Amino acid sequence: MNSAQWFERAQQVIPGGVNSPVRAFNGVGGTPVYFKSGKGAKVQTEDGTELIDFCGSWGPLILGHAREEIVDVVAKAAADGLTFGANTAIEAEFAELICKQIPEMDMVRLVSSGTEAVMTAIRLARGVTGRRKIIKFDGCYHGHSDYLLVASGSGLLTGGTSSSAGVSPAATEEVYVAPYNDLEAVQEILKANGDEIAAVIVEPIAGNMGLVEPAPGFLEGLRAATAETGTLLIFDEVINGFRLAPTSFGHTIGIKADITTLGKIIGGGMPIGAIGGSAEIMSHLAPLGPVYQAGTLSGNPVAVAAGMKTLELLRDESPYLKIEILGKRLADGINRIAEEKGMDIHCAQRGGMFTPFFRKETVHNLDDSKACNQKAHAAYFHHMLDHGFYTPPSGFEVAFVSAAHTETDVDMFLEAFSSL
Ligand SMILES: Cc1ncc(COP(=O)(O)O)c(C=O)c1O
Repeated sequence: MNSAQWFERAQQVIPGGVNSPVRAFNGVGGTPVYFKSGKGAKVQTEDGTELIDFCGSWGPLILGHAREEIVDVVAKAAADGLTFGANTAIEAEFAELICKQIPEMDMVRLVSSGTEAVMTAIRLARGVTGRRKIIKFDGCYHGHSDYLLVASGSGLLTGGTSSSAGVSPAATEEVYVAPYNDLEAVQEILKANGDEIAAVIVEPIAGNMGLVEPAPGFLEGLRAATAETGTLLIFDEVINGFRLAPTSFGHTIGIKADITTLGKIIGGGMPIGAIGGSAEIMSHLAPLGPVYQAGTLSGNPVAVAAGMKTLELLRDESPYLKIEILGKRLADGINRIAEEKGMDIHCAQRGGMFTPFFRKETVHNLDDSKACNQKAHAAYFHHMLDHGFYTPPSGFEVAFVSAAHTETDVDMFLEAFSSL
């Protein structure tokens, strides 16, 4: 059975054949690839091909696929018991490690996905402030809970709509949406309605409309404006956390968000999410406080073991410079080739994150990202796939270079790109 046959079969029993919409290749056309195994930077497919993977499961695999030390601790944790629904020592050690690496966090609560983390962060912000409304940014994606599916990014953009059916209007009425990088818009909303607004939530470096950098002063401005109205600032670092350094992005730039959400990397490939902040804020969570949050598998020992080993390896090996050098080599290469060939492309890059945008001008927000040529992106995606490279199957996503990639992988990618 090859990918096409598996997809045919899956569509009979799974809506659209996928368990997360962007995997259906709607943004690029064609048949989704079925993965069989992965090691380091490479994956084997059900078609008998080998691909160099620049998607990395959408971000968790900063150390590559099936890193031996992580697989070992997962196997041991699994053998010791898959779940207890009770406390384990490693949860406490893991929370200590996260709080040590991110000094702005006194406490952290573990959940099982980024969606859950953000959902809890919003409820916590409401509980702390006693206010109902939030501000989010057009094109930022924060998981699929009702409040956050307003003007959302990621797979929702690929689907051609930035919201979802089935979301309660009561939920969306509580959400103001501002363009990313538009500090004045936020200042105005806060000026007019600040005393109703519990939180401003932002991806400090946006990754769900392609890679979009915060403009100079944007995040600092959000911090100052929210502080003035007693509104909490939430940094959604599900992608950013531990991505550019073994800490939060907020910590590296010296901006203290009131609440930070984490996911992806901190689970090392296992399902996890986390919410962290000061003891004062975090103590509003049950059982200390009145804001309820719970989970049968929260703090699951297998996921925590994978996450703990991943963070220890990141702390001890610090592969960040290597990843940055590879990321820059890749983006510079794309930009050079595009220039030489007169292609309407520029590649955004930060550390191991990169997005080739199919237009020359820099992308500052969702409107810019939407102005890119999605047909040209689809042609690029399939060209790279045919040449043995897997990149995100949507023009509104970030691709990832991991510590397992090599200069040769990058150079081969560029060679294939040059024949686009
Ligand atoms: C910034 C951000 N927040 C939240 C989420 C939701 O995380 P999950 O898919 O683990 O629910 C994502 C997922 O891509 C994300 O990129």
